[in-house]
Amino acid sequence: MEPPHVHITTYGCQMNQLDAELVAEVLRASGARLAADAEEADVLLFLTCSVRGHAEDRVFSNIGALKTRKQREPGLVVGLLGCMAQQYGPALRRRAPLVDLVCAPGRLAELPDLIARARSGKTAMAFDPPRKEGGPEVFAASDLSAVAQRAKADAALDQAEVRRPLCGRSPGQAYVVAVRGCDNFCSYCVVPHVRGPERSRAPSAILEEVRRLVGQGARQITLLGQAVNQYAAVEGGRRWDLADLLQAAADVPDLARLAFITNHPRALDERLAAVFRNVSKVCSYLHMPAQSGSDAVLARMNRGYTAAEYLDRVAMARQARPDVGVASDFIVGFPGETAADFEATMDLVRRARFSAAFVFKYSPRPGTAAAKHYPDDVPDEEKRRRHAALLALVEEISGEENAKFVGCTVRIFVEEVSPKASANSKSEIRNPKSLQLRGRTPCNRIVVFDGPPRLVGTEVDVEVKASSPLTLFASLVSEA
Ligand code: SAH
Ligand code: SF4
Ligand code: F3S
Repeated sequence: MEPPHVHITTYGCQMNQLDAELVAEVLRASGARLAADAEEADVLLFLTCSVRGHAEDRVFSNIGALKTRKQREPGLVVGLLGCMAQQYGPALRRRAPLVDLVCAPGRLAELPDLIARARSGKTAMAFDPPRKEGGPEVFAASDLSAVAQRAKADAALDQAEVRRPLCGRSPGQAYVVAVRGCDNFCSYCVVPHVRGPERSRAPSAILEEVRRLVGQGARQITLLGQAVNQYAAVEGGRRWDLADLLQAAADVPDLARLAFITNHPRALDERLAAVFRNVSKVCSYLHMPAQSGSDAVLARMNRGYTAAEYLDRVAMARQARPDVGVASDFIVGFPGETAADFEATMDLVRRARFSAAFVFKYSPRPGTAAAKHYPDDVPDEEKRRRHAALLALVEEISGEENAKFVGCTVRIFVEEVSPKASANSKSEIRNPKSLQLRGRTPCNRIVVFDGPPRLVGTEVDVEVKASSPLTLFASLVSEA
């Protein structure tokens, strides 16, 4: 049989974007070809997200749309990978009958074999061990074979991650996994169920990967984990936390910027604050989701902090690095969220003054504690109203904060030629004939400016001329 010609469509978070690179690497190593265009491919892989119902609906409808193509090309293999695979299990093939191959996030290294099976008409499914009710300890103590299976699968993913070349998708930038899985069991969240227990990778493996990627031209590295600041490893006779890891990674010559996402408020401590204070390569950006400003809702969410404790952590970070951009996520319409609870969230946003925040409507996820114990009792219309009100407040504040940059010169990392060439059109500084580039400040604010494409992947100084809630409009001062 000819080697497969594979196209990958990626949904979901940064963890999935990195997994897409791992999938590409294991496929390349097995002799498969990667197709830029889905029409050319004979294997279509969907790397999916289960975090909200809406994310799943999009995948089901995109796969459903392949029906006529599948009738025309009976040999076409459709694979559903990632978080939805683990969430649905074998029942997925009843829900999406066009799917020939199913693979959970931890088993992606086995894809070449799964594709070969699917192409010869055999069942091709691989799942991670299910998590037990009651959380991490029960899992680890009672099911050692599952732990061993997970460790073997992780080792295969590690190999693919270390081998993968710096991907051309985002020149000069790379993600590196620090922590896999999650043990926090926030009551609304599917991630601990689909990504497995929290496992911190060995510091030596992470640092080797950082050095290699920088050797290939990466200038900005972002360490990933669902709660990356809970990083904890033992190696070389000592303990490592995220502060140690950032400090060691910052010593890699030619690395310009180091970022880390996402942070759990409970785990933000003085040691990490000291890194903000002392390590200049570490970006002044703290993505630390609050989720709600109501103590009662936070308790039902199992977040492990109060609104006042959250604000203390923000103050700790700002004291260490006054220019830190703090970003958050919020869920509106969580079960039992009253008008007063929602007001408490608005109040927290007014106090914290985020540089950015994502706002989501609560979506009950099968298998989670919230879906089991709390009825989804906030009507959708009210969820939509709260969503709009919170987003408007977030943008009002980020607009005020962004306006403070006007007139300042900032060093930005240039990420790409702007996909939206008109984004700057309301500003008089725009020359309609030249190309527009998009970059980010160390505090993660988006900056657009006119410049040549060769600057992509480098740092430059720009002067901010105008601002909006989501964007700074600037002009080039000098190439760094
Ligand atoms: N690990 C990250 C978040 C991962 S999910 C963290 O803990 O910060 C990304 C965001 O999706 C969450 O921060 C939350 O705001 C939102 N989210 C998660 N589950 C959700 C659900 N069931 N309904 C609506 N939003 C949800
Ligand atoms: Fe989900 Fe909470 Fe883990 Fe984030 S910390 S992935 S919200 S369980
Ligand atoms: Fe979605 Fe899985 Fe990430 S559920 S948010 S792709 S970890």
